[in-house]
Amino acid sequence: MKKIEAVLRPEDFEAIKKALKSAGFVSLTVYPVRGRGVQGGIPPYDLLPKMKLEIVVPDKDVEGVIDIIVKHSRRGIPGDGKIFVLPVYDAVRIRTGERGEEALY
Ligand SMILES: Nc1ncnc2c1ncn2[C@@H]1O[C@H](COP(=O)(O)OP(=O)(O)OP(=O)(O)O)[C@@H](O)[C@H]1O
Ligand SMILES: [Mg+2]
Repeated sequence: MKKIEAVLRPEDFEAIKKALKSAGFVSLTVYPVRGRGVQGGIPPYDLLPKMKLEIVVPDKDVEGVIDIIVKHSRRGIPGDGKIFVLPVYDAVRIRTGERGEEALY
């Protein structure tokens, strides 16, 4: 399992959310954040508002999720966002006790 963490332009999130659902990736976590990339913000703003998306998927689904995110956020200009992929040790669906990938879908 991997956790995909994407820092996105807030205005891109709705389309990404819809496309993920259409592709069968329903479960996700999102929250508003502030951040800066290599340009260091846009003066006078040091930190710009972004949306952070977190989605945990089996290894086989990582590239598909990345493709969906990139498709809906790449303009080819600075600030398009960034994606991080992290290993996930385990998952627990509290209701059933299912573990690992069985707890995801
Ligand atoms: N190395 C990093 N660590 C943590 N967060 C990051 C990192 N790089 C980018 N981010 C987050 O992602 C957001 C968007 O980054 P951004 O798309 O500007 O990346 P970039 O590396 O500056 O690339 P670009 O040159 O295309 O703008 C930042 O505002 C920040 O919240
Ligand atoms: Mg940048």
